[in-house]
Amino acid sequence: MMNMEQLIKIVKETDSIFFDEQLRADVTKKGDADFVTRADYEISEYLHRRLTETFPDIGFISEEGDTAIDETKDYWILDPIDGTTNFMHGLSFCAVSLGLYSGGDVVAGVIYIPYTEELFWAEKGKGAYLNGKPIRCSKNKHLSDCIGILEFNPYFKNDCRAAMDHALKIYSSCQDIRTFGSAAVELAYIACGQADVFLGRYLKPWDYAAGLCMIKEAGGVMTNLDGEVHIGKLNEHMVASNAAVYEEFCALIKS
Ligand code: IPD
Ligand code: CA
Ligand code: CA
Repeated sequence: MMNMEQLIKIVKETDSIFFDEQLRADVTKKGDADFVTRADYEISEYLHRRLTETFPDIGFISEEGDTAIDETKDYWILDPIDGTTNFMHGLSFCAVSLGLYSGGDVVAGVIYIPYTEELFWAEKGKGAYLNGKPIRCSKNKHLSDCIGILEFNPYFKNDCRAAMDHALKIYSSCQDIRTFGSAAVELAYIACGQADVFLGRYLKPWDYAAGLCMIKEAGGVMTNLDGEVHIGKLNEHMVASNAAVYEEFCALIKS
């Protein structure tokens, strides 16, 4: 049985790895603009060990470990550091993002931003919280009143014209546009109502699993551009927003 207090405690134990300067400076290039640090690997290994010893019946998927998802099984879905490029630069928008996928849905999520000490958690049917206080998505009803977030994604620059087209749509229809460099952080900020609409391009399940639970428990909606969620699929464009502007935002992105 999953216990949220226990889970939060385990996630926060990664502080000693996250704040280790030597681990942060030990960088490997995985591809163009795609980096991993020793801290990413060590957080992944640490949480793998702690979660499987504490919850032996639940499988474990991590960006820096086993990544194959069978949608009929139960898993922890971990991004040990979402926003590694920010992390390398010491920019605060980076998070440990952990979702629990069970019975075909993400039923719990923790997004922990160590630099700002913001700990978001959500559990299906129990709501979403930031540092212990309940959070809700914003109430804005029109895109013209919304802050729009676009996560460009640095790994698909061959598709940059489409990315700019998405930026143009969001910039021209919303109050303004932001991009933080971590889908997990951005989803947490949508869930607590600090921003209103989100488009993340080419996301992987570990980028958004925790955020999906957070958004839904905060009264929002999150899907791919067909209005669906396929946790086993890679590289999906995902939208998230409060419930009131979801239709308008999807229509804009698909226009
Ligand atoms: C990336 C970040 C980035 C998003 C990419 C992700 P990483 O995660 O969330 O904002 O645009 O799609 O892969 O590589 O820093 O874990
Ligand atoms: Ca990620
Ligand atoms: Ca990562």
